[in-house]
Amino acid sequence: MAKLLLAKENITVTDFKTIKNLLSQHGIKIEKWEASKPLADDASQETILEAYAHELKPFMDKNGYAVADVINVHPLTPNLTGLREKFMKEHTHSEDEIRFFVDGVGKFWFHLDNEEILCVTCERGDFMSVPKNFRHWFDLAPEYFVKAIRIFSNMEGWVPNYTESGIDNEYNKAHTP
Ligand SMILES: [Fe+2]
Repeated sequence: MAKLLLAKENITVTDFKTIKNLLSQHGIKIEKWEASKPLADDASQETILEAYAHELKPFMDKNGYAVADVINVHPLTPNLTGLREKFMKEHTHSEDEIRFFVDGVGKFWFHLDNEEILCVTCERGDFMSVPKNFRHWFDLAPEYFVKAIRIFSNMEGWVPNYTESGIDNEYNKAHTP
């Protein structure tokens, strides 16, 4: 079940309805999707996409999303530190970023227009949609175990535009040294 941290106030919210309302005020959507398929640690991208095609395809067709890929990180994934660093720097995308967490856990950090920082710890079944140009970053630590399907409108949307703000460093260090 997702958990939300209001980082500056150090307040944690666990009630899903409250999390959903809070995020929706900023244009971020969170939903619960069915995610009960057993998947091996080293399951291929194709296997993972196929396991959830029954949920993904209708959503993608209806909303005009064209491409999906998979983040699959587990303890035997090579270069975990380098991979963490790639995700944990604040960036934006030119397209909406959608993630469906099908196993494990990961932290989605959001930098709001009002300068508040929110951290949503996402787990199996959490489905999140982040509007384009929203400042955010993602942290794999401390678990380094997550399977998430990413959905975009087109290939260019996958490219992160790094803000170089450095704000990520402060929060990543404070919450997962
Ligand atoms: Fe991103």
